[in-house]
Amino acid sequence: MKDLVRLRTSLSEEIEAVLNEQIKLEAKSSSIYLAMAGWCERNGFDHSADFFFKQSDEERMHMLKIFKYICDMGGKAISPDVAGIEQEFTSFRGIFEDALVQEIRVTQSINNIVDKCHKFKDYTTVGFMEWFLKEQREEEFIARRALELFDVIGEEGVGRYMIDKKIPELTYSAD
Ligand SMILES: [Fe+2]
Ligand SMILES: [Fe+2]
Repeated sequence: MKDLVRLRTSLSEEIEAVLNEQIKLEAKSSSIYLAMAGWCERNGFDHSADFFFKQSDEERMHMLKIFKYICDMGGKAISPDVAGIEQEFTSFRGIFEDALVQEIRVTQSINNIVDKCHKFKDYTTVGFMEWFLKEQREEEFIARRALELFDVIGEEGVGRYMIDKKIPELTYSAD
């Protein structure tokens, strides 16, 4: 029976498994960003809160993109369990450091998936993952630029207020 079901999908079990792991990671990112948005709201950083609400939505969109891809390919997409999300953060700057670390982790994970796809000669999924590689360039760029604001503006006096104000202006153009 299992073999018969497998005929419905050209996804190998290994690729399906790493894609489901990525669904989990994107869902976790979404929850982490939501926790960050909440912390920023509680601490008076309104623009950063909006920024993290938007990031959280984007991560859910990434998760859905992979979920639907697995479905389209005839595989079994797993709705992710997310637990153990930290709700408190050490500082305003600490949040942006955590955000960059999280994005780097996601990039590494996507690279590993592409690597595995090559090993299994799954070039359809390689093509699908290209969108994510490009997206990660943007995500890491924005996260680094946000952190740089802390060094350029400084946190003293109205520094944090100014940093928060600058957060919505961060954009990335790949061209
Ligand atoms: Fe993502
Ligand atoms: Fe991201």
